Amino acid sequence: MTGLDLVFLGPPGAGKGTQAAELARRRGVPHVSTGDLLRGAVKADSPLGRQARGYLDRGRLVPDEVVVGMVRERLDRSDARKGFILDGFPRTVAQAEALDRELTSRGRRLRAVVLFELQDDEVLERLGGRLTCTSCGAMYHLRHEPPSQEGICDRCGGGLEVREDDRPGTVRRRLEEYREKTAPLVAYYQGRGILRRVDASGPIEEVRAALEGLLGGE
Ligand code: AP5
Repeated sequence: MTGLDLVFLGPPGAGKGTQAAELARRRGVPHVSTGDLLRGAVKADSPLGRQARGYLDRGRLVPDEVVVGMVRERLDRSDARKGFILDGFPRTVAQAEALDRELTSRGRRLRAVVLFELQDDEVLERLGGRLTCTSCGAMYHLRHEPPSQEGICDRCGGGLEVREDDRPGTVRRRLEEYREKTAPLVAYYQGRGILRRVDASGPIEEVRAALEGLLGGE
């Protein structure tokens, strides 16, 4: 039985997390963000977190075997049975092949891979203004999605912070990693006929509507 098994692909700051959280809530499936899982492990200072910290801080990809093991465990949880939105995974061809194996062994397959398209200058602008809640992970933007009260999360009252890897030098490194290691996945999924492109440059509501139109009843 195949659920709403989706992958959100695209450069850093393209809005994958913003849209994935909303769509997952509407469709009642988990939003699985490998970035969030890794940051959670770093915060908890777990062995996985200690292994991942240096890669995250430098804007480098965490080794495939670490991330694949983490995703495998997450997909085994019961809430992922009726579907999931994978945000930020896979990010290399090796991860995509591993995901294929994981899904095949569960009798499932990807419904679609959504590519969020955004120019580099817009990436820098978006990440330059991003604020993240330290308690619930909710995201804001100084200009496009400001919190009602400065520095405080509307949803849970937690404090807002600038992500360590959102400094311009690290963002540029993340963009290089994207181009070199993740962009080849566009051809990988295009070849299978499941790649859908969304123009991520419009306002949040516009991208949301485009996404719904793209996915239709899926
Ligand atoms: P991760 O957390 O996945 O970072 P990313 O892919 O670089 O994506 P971001 O979270 O930065 O951006 P987003 O596209 O989700 O945009 P968002 O919605 O936040 O990964 C972090 C690190 O973890 C990696 O560098 C790597 O080290 C490691 N990692 C993770 N996965 C890995 C993997 N599979 N393999 C190896 N390593 C891995 O939006 C950005 C901002 O813009 C927000 O402020 C938001 O409010 C605003 N915004 C969103 N949409 C719009 C819009 N339409 N208009 C205006 N503003 C908008």
